Amino acid sequence: MLNKKITDLLNSQINKEFYSSYLYLDMSNYYYDNSLNGFGNWFGIQTQEEYAHAMLFVKYMQNNGEKVALEAIKKPDIVYAGFKQALDEAYKHELYISQSINDIYALAYELKDFKTMQFLDWFVKEQGEEEKNVDELCKRFDLFGTDARGLYLIDTELASRVFTAPSLVI
Ligand code: FEO
Repeated sequence: MLNKKITDLLNSQINKEFYSSYLYLDMSNYYYDNSLNGFGNWFGIQTQEEYAHAMLFVKYMQNNGEKVALEAIKKPDIVYAGFKQALDEAYKHELYISQSINDIYALAYELKDFKTMQFLDWFVKEQGEEEKNVDELCKRFDLFGTDARGLYLIDTELASRVFTAPSLVI
């Protein structure tokens, strides 16, 4: 059994990860709708990753005998003003998720819940990678994406991304 304050935050994190998956699906659709299939693919993989993150939290709750309380998933409501905006919004969103993971970690630390801290270690590292990946994409878009040929090359490169299931075993 876990502390109630921890399970509340873990439950809320499950919803945030599912929302992330939904948000990135919306971004993926936006790019596919605009014939940028590589960007669509890249965000489609993000969608799969976020779903996998949510399921890791579900599994952790279940492994500890805790009941998962699923909440409604908010509708993504961003109106994209241009191809760069989805990237900026994705970066902002990853910073928000990192803060959310850090908040759970801080509570686990305060409660001396070492098991949850160890579980979250993977997510702390993963968030660092997620932030770096989106930040790099933003910077490369600024450098090359405003030119049609540059945008085409980035899109072609992003088309090759494939989904790899998280390596975390719980
Ligand atoms: Fe599961 Fe990108 O945070």
